[in-house]
Parts: sequence; structure tokens; C-alpha cells
Amino acid sequence: MERLNLFHKFLLILSLSTLLGIVALAGTISYLLKKNLVEEEGQDTASLMRVLSGSDLSPEMFAQALRQGEGVAFARFADRIKGMPEVFRVKIYDKAGTLVWSDEERLVGKNFTDNLELKEALGGKVQVAMGLLKREHIYESDRYNENRLIEVYVPLLHPDSGEVYGALEIYKHPVSHFALMDRMRRAVWVISLTLGILLFASCSWLFWNALKQQKKLDAEKGLMQAQLIQAEKLATIGAMLAGLAHEINNPLNIIWNKVRLMLKDLQGVNPGIELVQDLRVIDSNISRIGGIIRNLLAFSRKSNFDSVPLNLNTVISESLLLVEKPFARMNIVFDQALDLSLPQILGDPNQIQQVLLNLLSNARDAVQEGGKISIRTYVLKHGGPWVVAEVRDSGHGIPPEIIGRIFDPFFTTKGSHEGVGLGLAVSYGIVNSHGGSIQVESRPGQGTVFTLRFPARA
Ligand SMILES: Nc1ncnc2c1ncn2[C@@H]1O[C@H](COP(=O)(O)OP(=O)(O)OP(=O)(O)O)[C@@H](O)[C@H]1O
Ligand SMILES: [Mg+2]
Repeated sequence: MERLNLFHKFLLILSLSTLLGIVALAGTISYLLKKNLVEEEGQDTASLMRVLSGSDLSPEMFAQALRQGEGVAFARFADRIKGMPEVFRVKIYDKAGTLVWSDEERLVGKNFTDNLELKEALGGKVQVAMGLLKREHIYESDRYNENRLIEVYVPLLHPDSGEVYGALEIYKHPVSHFALMDRMRRAVWVISLTLGILLFASCSWLFWNALKQQKKLDAEKGLMQAQLIQAEKLATIGAMLAGLAHEINNPLNIIWNKVRLMLKDLQGVNPGIELVQDLRVIDSNISRIGGIIRNLLAFSRKSNFDSVPLNLNTVISESLLLVEKPFARMNIVFDQALDLSLPQILGDPNQIQQVLLNLLSNARDAVQEGGKISIRTYVLKHGGPWVVAEVRDSGHGIPPEIIGRIFDPFFTTKGSHEGVGLGLAVSYGIVNSHGGSIQVESRPGQGTVFTLRFPARA
């Protein structure tokens, strides 16, 4: 949950910053492109105007600019310029910033020194600005179907002294430039968006994987710690029980021998008499205690076993043969997936069979009527090679609060007639003495899986 929250927060921050990044990147590139194109267009226009004005306009005309005769000369020049493609308006200023010619006659004679671009132009610098069509240009907007325009201010320089003697203001409609600009801007946005989406996807994928990895490591660490604690606990209990079992075993053997001798002596005597019956009860109970003691010794790894090379698949098949019929009567379905390339392991087939029978009988108790038990074997290379067997059931599962105790000797949730609570303890001891491990994973209500791991034979 916490991890999911963290991921959601990360996604939120990532999407915001990606969005911001896209807007900043695409915006900056578009702005620079536009600036570049507009500037280039402005400079080209300015160069052309200078050449034309050099022949058509002279500083002297400006000196007496507002006189009628000069007005005609200016108008001729303006018409010539306006006849050029994309140019639709020309204004001519003298060096004081006074408009000396415009097609809007009412403005002629007015001073425009508060126009910053004009001021710069009169200082000798070409000025280029991009603007929108104003209401007065409505006619042009019909003509060009485009509401942007470029205003170019061109200083007019004296051919000898280089002094500014006036300025031109030209309104242009470089339609092809605008179209190019739009195309480039669209391309920039598409590229930025694609990059942004790729960045977003890869960052979130990386983050999600890192979280998953971290979760796996945490789980592995938790499992290892739990296993370590359990191993220590079971080792302590094992050592205690081993001593106890050993101490009980000797006197028990003596008692058992004596009982056997007594029963032998009483052979031929009427088996119905009370003494014989009592001795039989004592005999069967002693052998039961003997069984428990053997199990305790197996759990505490104090029992010896014969180690031979064996195939785990064979032991599994033999164990299944033993339980097949009684399980079938309970409508339990078996599912096997045995890896035929399994390497051999070293061990005692009887003891390993005991482990499998313990797990199978626990699975049977958990699934009850009509459940499913699956067994699968495979090789695990990591840290091994290990030969692994999995016993999975679809039973009621193990509640988390007791899962840490199921390997404890005498821990059982079954009635006193059904379980002693030694099955898993013994299995644990046997697997351990084979250099292997036994792990459990369970989901209450869904099932349990026990995983046995044995070192593969070298
Ligand atoms: N497959 C399983 N599904 C659900 N619970 C299980 C499963 N295997 C073991 N348990 C739980 O673990 C407890 C201990 O199992 P264990 O085999 O050691 O003892 P038992 O089965 O109760 O008795 P015994 O095996 O000695 O007859 C069981 O009582 C049961 O609660
Ligand atoms: Mg059991």
C-alpha cells in the first residue's frame, strides 16, 4: 500500500515535471526558431530596402520633406515598394521621427519618437518585430488569410558619412515564412511530446522495477531472518529433546524387553486373563512412545541414516503410490509436473519418503473432500544447484499468527486423536540433516505450498 502510494506520488511528480519540461523545451525552441526566422526575414528586407532607397531617396528630399513636391516622390517610392510581393504598407520617417509619408494622410507630419523600435532605427539599427494585424489592416487579412505580420524598421544611411537621415517602416506578410515557422513549431512540439512520453514511460518503468526489486529484497531479507530465528529456536528445542529422548530411550528399552519376556513367559496362558491384556496394552503404548522417541531423534538430527544417490522423482512417485487410493476415495485430485532432467541427490530414500508422506497427509487434512494437491520438481541454479520439490495444496491455508510455530515439535491444530504435531518437526530435521531446507508459504483460504530443497549430487 505504502509502496503504491509512493509510486503514485512519483508518477504525479514525474508527469508534472515532464509536462513542464515539454512546455519549456518546445516553447524555447519554438521561440528561438521564430526569432531566428523573423530576424533573418527582417535583415533580408532591410538590405533590399537600403539598396532601393539609395537610388530613390536622398537626404535632401528629407530636408524639405513635407513640401508638396517631395510628397509625390515619396509616394512613388512607396508604391514601388508596395508593389513587391508580401509588402503591404510603407511609412517613411525623417531623422527626427516625424512621419513624412504614409498612405494614411492624417498621420503625416506627426512625430513618433515615443515608438521604441523607430527610435532604435533612427539610432542606426535595423529593428524587426512580429505583430498581429490591426483593425486597420482588415483588407490585407482577407488577402493573406493570415493575421500575423512583420514590421521592419530600416535606418536610411547617408552614402558618404553613414549618418542616419531617416527611416522606413515596412509591414510585410511573409506567408511562406510563417508556414515554415508553423511547420517547424509543430515538428518541435511533436518531437518534444514524443521525447516526454518516452522519458515518462522509461522513468516510471525504472522506478516501478526498482520498487519491485526492493520489495523482493525486503521479502527475502524478512524470510531469511524468520528462517534464522526459526532455525535457532528449533536447534535449541532439538538439543533439549535429543537429550531427553536419549535418556528415556534406554530405560524404555529395558522396560520393553522385560514386557516382551513376560509376554513370552505367558505364552500358552489364556489370553483372556487380565494380566496378559494389561501387558499387551503396556507393550503397544511402549512401542508408541518408542515411535515418538525415534521421531524426536529424527527431528534433532541425532538419528543416523544411510546416504545413497537417489532420484527425488522416484521417491515422489513411490510416495504417491502409497497415498493414491485413500486420497482418491476423498476425491482429491493430484497434479504432477516432474522435471525428468533432475540430477540425483544424496540421501536416505526412506527418510525422504517420510517427509513427503508427512507433507501429503497434511495437505490431505487441509483440502478435505474434492481438493487439489500438486507436486512439481525442478532444478534451481541460484546458489546451488538445488533439487527442488514443491507440494502445493488448495486447502484452508495457515493463519499468519501460527505459521512461525508449525515446525515446533508437538505443535498441532488437530485434535489429540488426529495429530501429534511431530510431522513437520520430523520433516524439518530430516531435510536439515540432508543439507537441505524446507520452506512454507501460505494464504489463508487459498492454500499452502511447502518447498523442499536438496543439494544436487556433484
Ligand atoms: N498443508 C497444510 N495446510 C494447512 N495447515 C497445515 C498444513 N501443514 C501443516 N499445517 C499446520 O501445521 C500444524 C503442524 O503440522 P504437523 O504435520 O507438524 O503436525 P500435525 O499434522 O498436526 O500432526 P502429525 O503430523 O504429527 O500427525 C498442523 O496441525 C496444521 O495446523
Ligand atoms: Mg502432520
